[in-house]
Amino acid sequence: MTDFSGYPLPDNCPEAGECIRVERPEPGLAVVILDPPHRSLAVLDAPLIRDLDAVVEDLEQDTSLNGIVLTGRAPGQFAAGADIDAIAQLTDPKVIEKMVLAVHELFNRIEDLKPRTVAAISGPVPGGAFEISLACDLIVASDDDKTRIGLPETQLGILPGWGGSHRLPKRIGLPLSLDAILTGRLFKARVAWKRGMVDRIAKPEYLLEVAKDIAMGRKKLQRKHRGWKAWAMDKNPLMAKFIASQARKTIMKKTRGKYPAVLRALDMVIAAPSESRESGARKEAIAIAELASGPVCKALVSIFKGSEAAKKLGKGPDGWKPSRIEHGAVIGGGIMGGGIASAMADRGIWTRICDLSADALDAAVMDHRKDIDKRKRRRRIRQHQANEALDHLDMTLDSNTLGKSQVVIEAVAEVLPVKQKVLGGLAEIVSSDCIIATNTSSLSVTAIANDIPNPERVVGMHFFNPVKRMPLVEVIRGEKTSDEVVSATCALALRLGKTPVVVKDVAGFQVNRLLAPYLDEAMRLFVAGADPSRMDRLMLDFGMPMGPFTLIDEVGFDIALHTGTSLHEAYGTRFTPCPAMNDGLGENRLGKKTGKGFYVHPKGKKAKPSLATDLAKFQTETWANKLNNAELVDRMVLSMVGEAARCLEEGVTENAQMLDLATVFGTGFAPFHGGVLGYADSVGTTEVVKRLNIIAASPEMTDREGGVEKFTPAKILIDLAASGGKFRV
Ligand code: NAI
Repeated sequence: MTDFSGYPLPDNCPEAGECIRVERPEPGLAVVILDPPHRSLAVLDAPLIRDLDAVVEDLEQDTSLNGIVLTGRAPGQFAAGADIDAIAQLTDPKVIEKMVLAVHELFNRIEDLKPRTVAAISGPVPGGAFEISLACDLIVASDDDKTRIGLPETQLGILPGWGGSHRLPKRIGLPLSLDAILTGRLFKARVAWKRGMVDRIAKPEYLLEVAKDIAMGRKKLQRKHRGWKAWAMDKNPLMAKFIASQARKTIMKKTRGKYPAVLRALDMVIAAPSESRESGARKEAIAIAELASGPVCKALVSIFKGSEAAKKLGKGPDGWKPSRIEHGAVIGGGIMGGGIASAMADRGIWTRICDLSADALDAAVMDHRKDIDKRKRRRRIRQHQANEALDHLDMTLDSNTLGKSQVVIEAVAEVLPVKQKVLGGLAEIVSSDCIIATNTSSLSVTAIANDIPNPERVVGMHFFNPVKRMPLVEVIRGEKTSDEVVSATCALALRLGKTPVVVKDVAGFQVNRLLAPYLDEAMRLFVAGADPSRMDRLMLDFGMPMGPFTLIDEVGFDIALHTGTSLHEAYGTRFTPCPAMNDGLGENRLGKKTGKGFYVHPKGKKAKPSLATDLAKFQTETWANKLNNAELVDRMVLSMVGEAARCLEEGVTENAQMLDLATVFGTGFAPFHGGVLGYADSVGTTEVVKRLNIIAASPEMTDREGGVEKFTPAKILIDLAASGGKFRV
């Protein structure tokens, strides 16, 4: 028996022998079925690994066997990889290294089994689930839309550590394995087969039979040889060096070196073709021990766990499930409405888009068509999927034709009486249980719902621009919105491929309430003499996807000022907008949309913006130019942290995990920090309070309306600091 101690046990750990069934459907064949009673989908957790060890021991001694098939308990259910909760708990590098090596030993024994071993995989096959398959002689995958195969570990701040980092490069060569491991992409079965990641695909209903026939030698199948040229390329040190340096450049450009796992994975993959199995295993174990115990992995795992928690929001707490939406509508076919309607049609919802303007409708349908054509050209979808997505969208100028809808999403102008009128009219057309969602970015959902009959069905659904790319939807619970409608709206967001976060109906909701103080602080530092391109660079280094001034130019000064003003009205002086916003507006300097903001934006997709040369006239002071880099970053980031603490205190989101999820997916807040509150935890709440107090007491803040209030720490933060506590447990 191998010693797996150190791999933490789940709470509901089953008895030994309960996680795996072995069937003997015919002489000479064993079918090993991953079937743990405590999981809806098998996870390679401590009890399953323990039972697998015992099963492998039996198989090793059984001389009657010719073939072995490893599979899941049902179609679409192979296994979901390693136990993420356990990874979150592990902190001691020595324990991690020992545990990883023990699993390596087990997988090596599977690889060394005498009978032919065939993995029959289907459904999600990520990470450890694919790594155990790689230890089998051959892999057969189910050719269906749900099967997704790959090694996404780098997205969790680790690398494929159970053999993936050396077995996959040996199987498919350097370029393809680098692409798979560094991006962490999951591939459809057919694509995985073309790349050599699996040896054969089979229709789902024949998967097991095909695997059995191959295991028993009735069907001939051998792993494809990549040819001597490919082999020579992988083993050629000059070529490997060249590939590594190109890949390193791309990684550094994308991540600025903030994600150590990707760089470690690169080194590991490059060395793999010439590495022995034992040395590959040792290196993987050492790397995993370092990475899994480090802060980046912990932060990324916490975000992953937040996303998993968000997936459960589409059901009621008692398991109640909303009925499936077949028919939906969108009112307002502009930038947002067009994107939302297109996303709905893509996901198989019969969607009707309604606008007062025929031109707006034509443009929305045209954009939908262009998007589908592009994805078809890139082979992301097949012809029949493209046809279906096109068929599912139609348009109308007449809102009376929306009566069949089970959900209507409103995306007309951001004016309260306009929204009230549109939704009031709609309420008379649709059934009383039709969900009425508003995509308002700043108005109160409760106010919008006020005069609508059955206001419990009115909810906010705040998408972000561009709809197709932005992963977050804030689901706003109005005062009267029912729990069922909130769950059904989250289920819809999930169906559209988004991550929902339920947010209280407060001004700015969650995301804009945090972005506004950050952008305002950047603006004030600029007015006080700091160079905007320097601050943009600093925030990129911090891990934001773009600097604050690039973001203001993207959003537009008008929108930023409008948001700032409504937050000021709601929360008072700490949200007083920087007066320079008005000065910019005065010159029709709205950012990208007018070609000039902080940057000059030349026309043409590839033309690069350059810093405007006439910015000095807006800078009325010089003190901020004397602040060092860390002080500048602190002022911008801590303005978000301070407001985030107030939001948590008010219960704007359900908990700190959801708040952080909203910040990462909605503001792009550096994921490797784990979100705004995760960042505060990593700095230490005591230190955060100290720094906030220093800024609040500075003359710049005491002289500024609302400055002291903005940086005064909230009670929740002071209490945590006093006890040395953290936001995230
Ligand atoms: P837009 O101006 O691009 O589109 C609005 C559309 O609504 C226009 O096509 C207009 O013809 C149509 N419309 C106006 N009154 C109508 C009526 N009574 N019946 C049917 N159609 C009508 O506006 P955009 O940017 O798409 O914004 C829509 C909503 O989404 C606003 O509430 C906005 O605050 C919100 N939002 C906008 C974001 C953005 O980045 N643009 C981000 C998140 C939310």
